[in-house]
Amino acid sequence: MILVTGGAGFIGANFVLDWLRGSDEAVLNVDKLTYAGNLRTLESLQSDPRHIFARVDICDAAALDTLFSTHRPRAVVHFAAESHVDRSIHGPADFVQTNVVGTFVLLEAARRYWASLDDSARAAFRFLHVSTDEVFGSLSPADPQFCETTPYAPNSPYSATKAGSDHLVRAYFHTYGLPTLTTNCSNNYGPYQFPEKLIPLMIAHALAGKALPVYGDGRNVRDWLYVSDHCSAIREVLARGEPGQTYNIGGWNEKANIEVVQTICDLLDAARPKAQGSYRDQIAFVKDRPGHDRRYAIDARKLERELGWKPAETFETGLAKTVRWYLENQPWVDEVASGEYRKWVETNYTKRV
Ligand code: NAD
Ligand code: TYD
Repeated sequence: MILVTGGAGFIGANFVLDWLRGSDEAVLNVDKLTYAGNLRTLESLQSDPRHIFARVDICDAAALDTLFSTHRPRAVVHFAAESHVDRSIHGPADFVQTNVVGTFVLLEAARRYWASLDDSARAAFRFLHVSTDEVFGSLSPADPQFCETTPYAPNSPYSATKAGSDHLVRAYFHTYGLPTLTTNCSNNYGPYQFPEKLIPLMIAHALAGKALPVYGDGRNVRDWLYVSDHCSAIREVLARGEPGQTYNIGGWNEKANIEVVQTICDLLDAARPKAQGSYRDQIAFVKDRPGHDRRYAIDARKLERELGWKPAETFETGLAKTVRWYLENQPWVDEVASGEYRKWVETNYTKRV
């Protein structure tokens, strides 16, 4: 089996669902269930013996040791993290704890377990660390995209803690020989994304008749990848990536935020027209995020060249699917957007307008 951390979050849950659609190899899903983790996403696996769920914090070394020795995974795919930049600005401590300390505790547990394996199991073992392009910092409009050798220059507490975890993973390969793989992916979107992130937040606010809060001038650029394409890239890297290597993952879809928000409005205008006017009328420019990175862009040629991976979706097809999914799955959104979420919206947006 494989051990997946953070498999109740957005990308982790998509990964678990996709994995079990394509394979009979079981998944041990280790998740603390923070505000971002939601077992409802995994409802379809409730009576599936291939999915074992353990509510465990990755900072809990003893619990991890027990999970490793009981279930004996052949690989770890590590998604668990605090993942939202705005929250990292309001409260960085949880990010240091989970992203840096948690990754360290998980690496140590994996190393102890790995050392106990026989030679062939040790050689076959993999620790795949899921990271972000945000560790590379911010690009100007004319700069080339981030490649695997771009120097790290993280600017937010979120990206700084992800950079720290990437460095630890690198060190565990070089120092101890743990067979690690690291992936650095661009912004994801798709089903089951928590509505604190740009795309689901805009869909939710549009449907609720609320303002669509675009930070600053709306010209910040992100490089968007549909979540199932990220999952397929991770499967490729896990199967055929070379230990010690890092792989950038992206879909060659750079868009300014305002363009993304306008496209969402147009898709909603077509699918669920308002009685009067367009959803675009709800767009409101608000106070910028402190230290807001201007542009992210990924050069994913290494992954294509070495492992033959390419994304299946374009931004247009992926975004249309995503908007449709949110329209058809309003109860999921209503459930995750309950108490804690409402407090967050107040914290993040009240003082911006
Ligand atoms: P998410 O916030 O939706 O989910 C994170 C999951 O981790 C949740 O289920 C949460 O309960 C769990 N978790 C948090 N702290 C934990 C802890 N201490 N112990 C165990 N579980 C814990 O995040 P996501 O968007 O799915 O991102 C997953 C990973 O992918 C992260 O490592 C993130 O840095 C990386 N990533 C995300 C994006 C993106 O656009 N969302 C892009 C590139 C990389
Ligand atoms: P986000 O989804 O938080 O991802 P990240 O900060 O990791 O890239 O934000 C994507 C972009 O959208 C980013 O430039 C910030 C911007 N943004 C807004 O303009 N308004 C919002 O309400 C949010 C959440 C984000």
